[in-house]
Amino acid sequence: MGDFRKKTIQDVDLNGKIVLIRVDYNVPIKDGEIQEDMRISASLSTIRYALDMGARKVILISHLGRPDGAYVPDMSLAPCAQRLGELLPDKVVRFSDMIYGPDAKAAVDALPDGGVLLLENLRFVPDEEADSEEFAKKIVEATGADIFVQDGFAVIHRAHASTDAIARILPSVAGFLLEKEVSSLEKAMSNPERPLLVIIGGAKVSDKQPLIDKFITIADQIVVGGKIASDGYKNASPNVYVAEDFAEDGNGAKLDIGPISTKKIVEMIKKSHTIVWNGTLGMVEDERFKRGSLAVAQAMGESSDMTIIGGGDTTGFVEEVLKKNGELTFNLISTGGGACLELLSGKSLPGLEILQDK
Ligand code: 3PG
Repeated sequence: MGDFRKKTIQDVDLNGKIVLIRVDYNVPIKDGEIQEDMRISASLSTIRYALDMGARKVILISHLGRPDGAYVPDMSLAPCAQRLGELLPDKVVRFSDMIYGPDAKAAVDALPDGGVLLLENLRFVPDEEADSEEFAKKIVEATGADIFVQDGFAVIHRAHASTDAIARILPSVAGFLLEKEVSSLEKAMSNPERPLLVIIGGAKVSDKQPLIDKFITIADQIVVGGKIASDGYKNASPNVYVAEDFAEDGNGAKLDIGPISTKKIVEMIKKSHTIVWNGTLGMVEDERFKRGSLAVAQAMGESSDMTIIGGGDTTGFVEEVLKKNGELTFNLISTGGGACLELLSGKSLPGLEILQDK
């Protein structure tokens, strides 16, 4: 990993403290069932470390979905507390449907030492997205938190109360997930093992152009696939390869990269020492049009070089592939979507910048 410039949970004394951790449990939930829990399992090492270091209580805060400041029962974090309890069977894990005020305080007081309490979806209150310091203070008062740990990598591109205002009130450091994601991604950008290959897919050029612009001077090779390529993306830079053939449906719609492009990209992966992939290369929801992405996932997963899966739909796809082929390994499968894209595009992330410097 690269040098991490922020203080982390390992730089502070947690013994006897109430530790407030911002996680990102914005996971897909259907009919009350969590569809995919990667973001919850990714939070465990920080939670366990805090308790191992003698933290008195761990209080977790998160958002889920975009309820726009209103209570939306389907967006409750209650199922996440339940899943967390299953993942931490040796700990007391509870849920509070209040975020602040006397009832939230009572839930914190009632939590036994060594326990974990997840508060309800912060975005049920408009003050969260308004980055309200008053709201952040109310959370700190109700929880009695001594220290704030930011571990919700996927949300650090937002300046909200739980990523920004709260860090003005409490001493604030990074958790392990945040450290790992930021260090790996920053290293790939600033000091990669070369050759550095960046594979970019997805649907919208406007989303990915900043990424292409950022890496054009950094990467040894850039590959552009996905709908961006099939829509006719052109780039004259000598280090940019745009997919040249496509798999089509019966109506001539180009929905995946074709065998020639796939073969060339796999060769490039084999020759590279750092590979960053952001954006699937075809319409992977359809079995017929996931071949290109599958070949890339396979080649990256078999590589012993630095492999980074850059979040969003790419992460979802690779997680699916891993369920069927657990032999594949990746150095980083980012839990971030927008956050990962913004970091890789060179933007500053408010939830990271506000943390204490080393
Ligand atoms: C994400 O899923 O990208 C994060 O949880 C951030 O969610 P948001 O885009 O609704 O802020």
